[in-house]
Amino acid sequence: MRRDEIVGWLRETDRGKLGELWWRADALRRRCVGDAVHLRGLVELSNKCARQCGYCGLRAGNAALPRYRMTHDEILACARMAQELGYGTLVLQSGEDPTMDPEWLAGVVRQITTTTPLAVTLSLGEWGADVLGLWREAGADRYLLRFETADEELFQRIHPPMPGRPSSRFEVLRSLRELGYEVGSGILIGFPGQSYDELARCIEVLRELELDMIGSGPFIPHPDTPLGGSHGDAAPDQVPADDLMTYKVLALARIVRPYANIPATTALATLDKASGYERGLQRGANVIMPNLTPVRYRTLYEVYPGKTGTAPKDTYYDDIKARIEALGRTVGVGPGSSACRTGAAAHPA
Ligand code: 5AD
Repeated sequence: MRRDEIVGWLRETDRGKLGELWWRADALRRRCVGDAVHLRGLVELSNKCARQCGYCGLRAGNAALPRYRMTHDEILACARMAQELGYGTLVLQSGEDPTMDPEWLAGVVRQITTTTPLAVTLSLGEWGADVLGLWREAGADRYLLRFETADEELFQRIHPPMPGRPSSRFEVLRSLRELGYEVGSGILIGFPGQSYDELARCIEVLRELELDMIGSGPFIPHPDTPLGGSHGDAAPDQVPADDLMTYKVLALARIVRPYANIPATTALATLDKASGYERGLQRGANVIMPNLTPVRYRTLYEVYPGKTGTAPKDTYYDDIKARIEALGRTVGVGPGSSACRTGAAAHPA
């Protein structure tokens, strides 16, 4: 798909036309990754963060936020819960916290991978190849790091570099690939300053990176952040951060990477509470990431407002399972690794 076609879809408003896009994405999803919906249990292990991202509620500058880091035993308890619920994967996520000892985390990962059948996905921000290699050796299988935007200048503006430590998420993504991780990345959709052309370029980048996993979600303003306030009149070219735009990006991600694992993200379900998961799953997605973080920490992991689900995990699980089955789909069994490794060469789109 060419850039101008991608822009055409991103600007499309005709429901009948959009129906074609949803149909195409859903057909590819079925053909390439099947009807199973994989559940990944999410553990938000720490909200400590050294970064100053303009969009994120966990930014270091948000001094009002009490900070926590879960203990080894607390994380292991979540892993056992994931196993009991029949999940195949545990996702360990946190802010970017240079005070966290990489050896400590390696110990946590090693204990999970040696005492449970769970695959482990890490989502811990930007680290050097030495640390990423240590975690890979400890048994981590996958790593998620969104590039957020492909425009270098915009990225530096919303995600300032650490003093004296220039960073490139694309470099980190390359290291992850070399270390043998399954690699996931994605886009922050509709943050202030993002144009249609830029978003279309991001979708091309999803293809160029040959990603195993693609997680993208709408920008939701957080009041305690620089990008959380009013921005006056948006530029005519500004991408809206709404659920429709998120569905379009999901569907286009499926079309450019037909074998990837693609979640219907929590941010999408936050915008479209009634049917975000259903519509996402019918427009390209094949993964959901239910939150297993202990409820007392969840309110402190407010990347954006309204995110915190406090439903007890079992009810939540039954609810998600019922919603998947109502679509005629099944809950995936086992780790649900990337089909890209076998299917990436063939491009049915
Ligand atoms: N709205 C939506 N998503 C956000 N993220 C961070 N802040 C926000 C926000 N205000 C997303 C980023 C990041 C991921 C952990 O959460 O894309 O990569």
